[in-house]
Amino acid sequence: MSRANVHSALSPLAKTRAALLLKELTLAEKIGQMVQVNGCQGDIPADLRQKIVDGSVGSVLNEVNPETVNELQRLAREQSPHGIPLLMGRDVIHGFKIGQPIPLGQAATWNPDLVRAGAQAAAMEASQSGLNWTFSPMVDICRDPRWGRVAEGYGEDPVLTSEMAQAMVRGYQNGTQYQLLSCLKHFAGYGASESGRDYNTTSIPELELQNVYLPPFLAGIEAGCLSLMPSFSDLNGLPPTGNPWLMRDILRKAWGFQGFVVSDWESIPQLQTHGICEDRQGSAGQAVEAGINLDMASHVYAENLQAMVESGQLEINLVDDLVQEILAAKYQMGLFDSAGPQTVEPLQQDKIAGIAQQLAEQSMVLLKNADKVLPLNRHSSDHFLLVGPMADQPLEQLGTWVFDVEETNSITLKTALSDELDGQLNFHPGLQNSRDQSHAQFQAVLKLAKTADVVILALGEEAILSGEAHCRTDIRLPGAQEALISAVAELGKPIIAIVMAGRPLVMEAVIDKLDAVLYAWHPGSMAGPALVNVLLGNTNPSGKLPMTIPRAVGQIPIYYAHGNTGKPPTSETVIGLDDIDPHAPQLSVGNTSFHLDVAPSPQFCFGFGLSYTQFAYRDLRFSSNTVKPDQSVEVSVLLENIGPVEGVEVAQLYIRDPVASVTRPVRQLKKFQRVALKSQASKKLVFSIQWQDLSFFNGSRWLVEAGIIEIWVGGSSAASLGGQVQLVAS
Ligand code: NOJ
Repeated sequence: MSRANVHSALSPLAKTRAALLLKELTLAEKIGQMVQVNGCQGDIPADLRQKIVDGSVGSVLNEVNPETVNELQRLAREQSPHGIPLLMGRDVIHGFKIGQPIPLGQAATWNPDLVRAGAQAAAMEASQSGLNWTFSPMVDICRDPRWGRVAEGYGEDPVLTSEMAQAMVRGYQNGTQYQLLSCLKHFAGYGASESGRDYNTTSIPELELQNVYLPPFLAGIEAGCLSLMPSFSDLNGLPPTGNPWLMRDILRKAWGFQGFVVSDWESIPQLQTHGICEDRQGSAGQAVEAGINLDMASHVYAENLQAMVESGQLEINLVDDLVQEILAAKYQMGLFDSAGPQTVEPLQQDKIAGIAQQLAEQSMVLLKNADKVLPLNRHSSDHFLLVGPMADQPLEQLGTWVFDVEETNSITLKTALSDELDGQLNFHPGLQNSRDQSHAQFQAVLKLAKTADVVILALGEEAILSGEAHCRTDIRLPGAQEALISAVAELGKPIIAIVMAGRPLVMEAVIDKLDAVLYAWHPGSMAGPALVNVLLGNTNPSGKLPMTIPRAVGQIPIYYAHGNTGKPPTSETVIGLDDIDPHAPQLSVGNTSFHLDVAPSPQFCFGFGLSYTQFAYRDLRFSSNTVKPDQSVEVSVLLENIGPVEGVEVAQLYIRDPVASVTRPVRQLKKFQRVALKSQASKKLVFSIQWQDLSFFNGSRWLVEAGIIEIWVGGSSAASLGGQVQLVAS
């Protein structure tokens, strides 16, 4: 994966037009193209009007009033010296007016086609406001659920995230009149923030950066993404906004990226705060040298670049190249050709809501279903009780980054379930919100629970507990939710827990008290109908975890693709705190890699998710037992639905390179397929693994090494059906 296949991202015409236009611009106009300002939320102030007319602003963010947007574009196109249209940016992250599941939930669908349709629907909605650019997708790999921004990404795995990155980019940049320029963020390694605290330092060896954190960005660029945003964090001593190795050597030289880079919000002057330059002017110079084309919100480019170029401190060629990249993207996205102000077309609301609902249904992961308590049986149970702080909260079910989503579009679980179980359902919130510590309403809940056949608990985290700058150290169910579970469990009734959250939560203390657990992430506007369909079995759950769920915070970072260590734990070596013999010498205790106070496994592993049916895998075959350079191997397996109902399985293929020049993970996802099968039906699945799929960065270069590759296929990262092939040098 040394160079991206980006030939189609920018047409020769867009490049030529950009080069020709650049020649006509004054220095002030060029710098204007590098300036992005915040929107005005109302009347356009006189100074902003003037700046646009002067050509001193190239982009505006956070302006979504269509009339205002049209007026801003009219000023730029009709009154500025060269009529260059504005990039109108906004964080359209998971839907626009209709909320779709948070990105982490979308990853749990393992359905790139549907995710692409979701992005296209969001683009259609957002373009009605005159927006032409979204700061999405966020493709930061994250292995620490304490980090609030884990909600915005696609989880812990580079292959799954890469697939999602491509789907999102293609959905936004869809070639229709309703498209948005996409923006890959945050380049790079932001998800490795120390202790899961936002904006924190990251220390990532190049081996890990190349193998884990960078591939989703390259994948997004290969799908045609033309803009990218650096991360706020400090990466190995050099924040990406001022990091020429990342922005020039990797992004442009190695990968051939042809788009442009927008700083994050004021991340250019933050180079001074980080302590790598003395003042604002220094930060502007450093960002230009690093290759940051557009300054989001800070004005440091506007304040400094002209004087720096005129005094010879900054080479004009650097500025020219950066401006040309912005202009080329504007041409490529059709901004110059769009026929004047945006017109508002009637939206296909039902279709968009339908996509949001499908995404929500497919994102839900059934983690536990003891005694097949789900799907709910309306005939054998008469009385249902719905309890919990997330059951009837139109805003909280939406999750983070929902600036434009309309609360009135939300259908809650309580509303949808009441419609369905007319007369059979009681409801009590139990807690005011997810953080409520009070037990005051427990007695009322228990009174209702006594007469119920089944209790449905709608638990989780409010939207505000995840997202940017919303990180937690204790990621158990907040407030008195664990106590609520314990109190209800005392009654011995079947309990179904629905968890709506922006991250994997630690549930070790309560998991045994729950009969079923349906992990719904923050499902978006259509949470209610989607949950009802899954609870009643109209939709068979098919979601699979895009991130490991830990047993304890102390296990973090915990992820399936870890190294083997020199002392992996075994069932013989692992002991618990109670097994310790105080008189035994220190080294007699286990002596392998595990914690004394928690089992050496996650609560639920990556890729895991149950269904109302069961699937079996057998008959694993390889097209050849040896693979030569640039050849592929076809891996086939028979998948059978051996359960009672139709279902969808996400079949996953993992590999391991057991002997290599550097240590390799114990498992790596390489391929997956979503397969629908009727009860008792079977299907032969074929996965094609290319030679290049087996390459890795060994510290200095990308290569494929000869030797054995172990392969497993199954329904999670714990798949047990496996075999091996031999890679031969020639
Ligand atoms: C800061 C966030 O880090 C980034 O993801 C977002 O796109 C910008 N602000 C713009 O809102």
